[in-house]
Amino acid sequence: MTDPTADTADNADSADTADNADTADTVAAWRRLAGTCVLLDGFHALKHAVRFGAEVPVAVTTDRRAALALAGELAPDVRKTLAGLLTEVPEQAYRSVVPRPHPTAVAALAVRPSRVAGLATLAHVPRTAPVVVLDHPRNLGNAGAVIRLAAGFGATGVVTIGPLDPWHPTVVRGGAGLHFATAVERLTADELPAGPLFALDPEGDDIRGVKLPDDAVLAFGSERSGLSAELRARTDHLLSLPMRPQVSSYNLATSVAMTLYHWSATGYGSRP
Ligand SMILES: C[S@@+](CC[C@H](N)C(=O)[O-])C[C@H]1O[C@@H](n2cnc3c(N)ncnc32)[C@H](O)[C@@H]1O
Repeated sequence: MTDPTADTADNADSADTADNADTADTVAAWRRLAGTCVLLDGFHALKHAVRFGAEVPVAVTTDRRAALALAGELAPDVRKTLAGLLTEVPEQAYRSVVPRPHPTAVAALAVRPSRVAGLATLAHVPRTAPVVVLDHPRNLGNAGAVIRLAAGFGATGVVTIGPLDPWHPTVVRGGAGLHFATAVERLTADELPAGPLFALDPEGDDIRGVKLPDDAVLAFGSERSGLSAELRARTDHLLSLPMRPQVSSYNLATSVAMTLYHWSATGYGSRP
């Protein structure tokens, strides 16, 4: 069946294959931008980033026809945009810029949104959806999973406190390109956005008795040591997730998922 979103240029796959000069230009552009841009590793990361308005100055694939077929199947809304972005390069050139190629053989660089814009989004009031705070998270995969959750639930943003960089390539990989769908910044505890601070801890009051407001700041402790004393001191409400005795705690990202689900189900504001 003919794909109605296909344009004549991306049907001519062989004509779109970069020649040696194009490949050299693409690789040079990649090297120039790699230090300041965010790596989108794989088709799904690129798809999400494009959907949520990321600026993508360079995108490569070793198989443009396969990448666009995947787009036609899974993301027809962005197929035309991807057709305009993706340059096919030989495997060797691809590997020279992305040492561990993704199974979809697609990679791109995106411009990181400005911190000023991220801080403005986090500070904007009235807030229509919570901000998630990770207090000294350690695991990069957990942080990525939390950003993906926040994007899915339409949270205002994710703030990390502590040394973990929420824009680290491994976090971006775990976030599946959804850093572009929510504000993501590292702040100190002093700089947290305004709003009632609900901190999650197994010792808190049962979350099922509480409605979480849309301007809630939802804080979660580190995988190893839980909430810091600094964050506890600022907390307005300490809440627990239901858990049978003898189980010590849930995984960090799982805890964020349950809490955002609880917010979404308890009747405030607009929901995804
Ligand atoms: C892996 S847990 C931290 C375990 C850590 N050993 C501790 O002492 O708390 C990571 C975070 O997930 C949240 N969490 C995990 N289980 C929870 C529960 N049953 N109720 C509320 N929050 C929970 C808390 O915010 C916790 O700090």
